[in-house]
Amino acid sequence: MIFTVAIDGPAAAGKGTISRAVAARFGFAHLDTGALYRAVGVKGGDPVAAANGLTPEDLARDDLRTLEAGLAASRVAVIPEVRAALLDFQRRFARREGGAVLDGRDIGTVICPEAEVKLFVTASAEVRAHRRWLEVGGDAARVLAEVRERDDRDMNRADAPLKPAADAVLLDTSGLGPEEAIAQAIALVQAQLPG
Ligand code: DC
Repeated sequence: MIFTVAIDGPAAAGKGTISRAVAARFGFAHLDTGALYRAVGVKGGDPVAAANGLTPEDLARDDLRTLEAGLAASRVAVIPEVRAALLDFQRRFARREGGAVLDGRDIGTVICPEAEVKLFVTASAEVRAHRRWLEVGGDAARVLAEVRERDDRDMNRADAPLKPAADAVLLDTSGLGPEEAIAQAIALVQAQLPG
């Protein structure tokens, strides 16, 4: 069965938590596409060469979840050649046999417009910054500024900007706990599954 769940949205909206739970529930493969951009961002050197030569070791680095890696990812993600280098891998992953969940910014709009389920997960910048701060600690005001800076860059870039696909279902997690958000996502997928 070919079945793609596209989960897009801004930083720290809950995409990762929801994606992992949906993948586990239905036995689908999961790809965190932000990790690809983070790996390119932290590798240094020429980002286009880094994107073309990405290795499993690059994706296994333990510093990919830091604030710095998120900002570096958002900076290299504006480069069309970087996005192009990562496109085929993501497309093939989306249409692999057995079902796939991909989370990112442009999955429902660019990578897999034919996805059977498209979810746009969002939450207020303050709520998202608080969640990220619980993860990374440090100065809360700086975390909020970082979230806003990334939102701004991700939404306003020319190539594949962050925006909901016309046929995406919006899920605002500002007032939802993870269990509720996961339950809503699972219900949406269940409703679209064949048979
Ligand atoms: O989801 P994340 O926080 O790991 O993403 C890090 C950055 O990577 C994000 O700010 C923008 C970029 N990104 C992207 O441009 N397209 C994607 N599909 C995923 C991430």
